[in-house]
Amino acid sequence: MRNVSIALLGCGTVGKGVIDLLAMNGPLIEEQLKTKITIKWVLIRDLQKYESMDLPEPIMLTTNFDDIINDDDVEIVVEVMGSADFAKECIEECFKRKKSVVSANKDLIADYGIPLLKLSQEHNADFQFEASVAGGIPIVRPMYSSLNSNIIEEIIGIMNGTTNYILSNMTEKGMSYEDALEEAKEKGYAEADPTNDVSGYDAARKIAILATLGFHSAVTFNDVTVEGIENITQEDIRHATEMGYVIKLLAIARQDDDGISLNVHPSFIRKGHPLANVGGAYNAVFVRGNCVGDVMMYGQGAGSLPTASAVVSDVMNVILHFNINITGQREFVWHEVKLKNQSSI
Ligand code: NAP
Ligand code: HSE
Repeated sequence: MRNVSIALLGCGTVGKGVIDLLAMNGPLIEEQLKTKITIKWVLIRDLQKYESMDLPEPIMLTTNFDDIINDDDVEIVVEVMGSADFAKECIEECFKRKKSVVSANKDLIADYGIPLLKLSQEHNADFQFEASVAGGIPIVRPMYSSLNSNIIEEIIGIMNGTTNYILSNMTEKGMSYEDALEEAKEKGYAEADPTNDVSGYDAARKIAILATLGFHSAVTFNDVTVEGIENITQEDIRHATEMGYVIKLLAIARQDDDGISLNVHPSFIRKGHPLANVGGAYNAVFVRGNCVGDVMMYGQGAGSLPTASAVVSDVMNVILHFNINITGQREFVWHEVKLKNQSSI
């Protein structure tokens, strides 16, 4: 069986999720790809901090990116560190060495996605970033593949798990803003600096990524008008409830003949509306295409395994591209059908 060695840059909530997912679902993945995925290196900053972590063989920890970039065995690099500058340097270096990259880093994609995509193409490398918007929900790839026969008119969604977790818990459990934020941090939903979550900047980056792909227009984070949830009080929540509404942080992108509008702000949503029922760290994204009409995608927008689900699927897609290049076709593997005994109707 072919083996593909990968390296992780970062081993926090998402990086650990990738390690766990490959341990859990490795056999199924190998069977489907006819390829074994081996994590060879994990880049971290502080060896002492990660020494006691029980990592599966043959993972090696390193604090030196050169170990990874100079290792010709490593074909795919998974960037799950966050921040922009160092991550960008690493990714550029990977493309120049013809290594493909999977990233979950929306800060980076929102600012440098298009130049990085161009660079990857120049060097015949792959660049995938499904986890950069709405965690485990498949939305990035549908935006540039399954929905791309449409003129996309509108994208509306709850795209930040942390703020949705805070607002849902303030509404449903009467929790304070501070306690709910603390819980969101403990559960691994919040960014290393949660200011980006609560200020709406994280959602703004995500809507900029989706609008760029959906509207075929290089919009940026700076084009989005943003208001966060820092000033939402229990009193606001109570008023909304009394009037039959809930408060949600919405990201909204619209396109018509006059141009594009991009906004992130807290919104009143009538109870009973599908978005009003999106609780916890869940996300939901509505897309309106001129032919397909409305499509809604719903699921876990943050957290270790849900986000790893998107990251590992990206890795698998890169490998499928490699394999198709080798064999000229995608080989599907089907299991023997094992039907359960069913009582006759
Ligand atoms: P995290 O828990 O803070 O983990 C980041 C990891 O990267 C840590 O191991 C950190 O090491 C390491 N790291 C940071 N800077 C580094 C550097 N310069 N050199 C080497 N290692 C470095 O973050 P996360 O939640 O996993 O998020 C990772 C990325 O995924 C971010 O871009 C985030 O926006 C994105 N994302 C996260 C989620 C989620 O639910 N958490 C969902 C979707 C996308 P230290 O331990 O030393 O800090
Ligand atoms: N901090 C982000 C959120 C992680 O809460 O949605 C997923 O992008």
